[in-house]
Amino acid sequence: MQQTWVFLKSFLSSPKAVGSVVPSSRYLVNVIVSGIDWSTLGSVAELGAGTGVVTAAIERQRSRESEFLVFESDRSMRAALEKRYDSAAVHDNAYDLRKVVESRGLSGLDCIVSGLPFVNFSQADRKFLLKEFHDLLNPGGIFVALQFSRNIRPDLKALYDEVDMTHVWANVPPAFVYHCRRGS
Ligand SMILES: C[S@@+](CC[C@H](N)C(=O)[O-])C[C@H]1O[C@@H](n2cnc3c(N)ncnc32)[C@H](O)[C@@H]1O
Repeated sequence: MQQTWVFLKSFLSSPKAVGSVVPSSRYLVNVIVSGIDWSTLGSVAELGAGTGVVTAAIERQRSRESEFLVFESDRSMRAALEKRYDSAAVHDNAYDLRKVVESRGLSGLDCIVSGLPFVNFSQADRKFLLKEFHDLLNPGGIFVALQFSRNIRPDLKALYDEVDMTHVWANVPPAFVYHCRRGS
């Protein structure tokens, strides 16, 4: 309940950046993390972690040796994530993903999970970020995006070899989850 309140407060102060009124439901979180063999992934980034409902699911499943980078631009939600996930590296702006990956000496990432509300970004930013995230994935890497519209689907289809979309009704609002795989 406290997480829902924190989320709602952040939404009321920055509706476009936060993009939804409440955190993802457990049904939506299950769809986001399903179909991925987390134990084989050496590096994972989560972009737009909010109050950490997806973060918690990733934390439960990823291997202890993997690197976990978490990005959240809202200051109060980021402070709570830093407290709760001391084994993850928590950062501010997802636009800095390349800088952070390079500064940690990683050649790329095995998985990127995004909750970023692309629908509220300019078209130029959306195109830039989707291409940037694709290029930062290692061969065979996975991009998972939570969205509330279908509008990024053509961009994803142009970038990835495989794009699966799941419509999740059991969430406020109903959501789309894209699982995309980069070619090997
Ligand atoms: C739709 S919410 C998803 C939150 C969470 N992943 C969930 O499923 O409940 C989007 C989140 O992205 C964050 N966000 C928006 N722009 C961002 C950026 N440039 N860098 C990092 N986080 C950002 C917002 O503050 C918000 O917490």
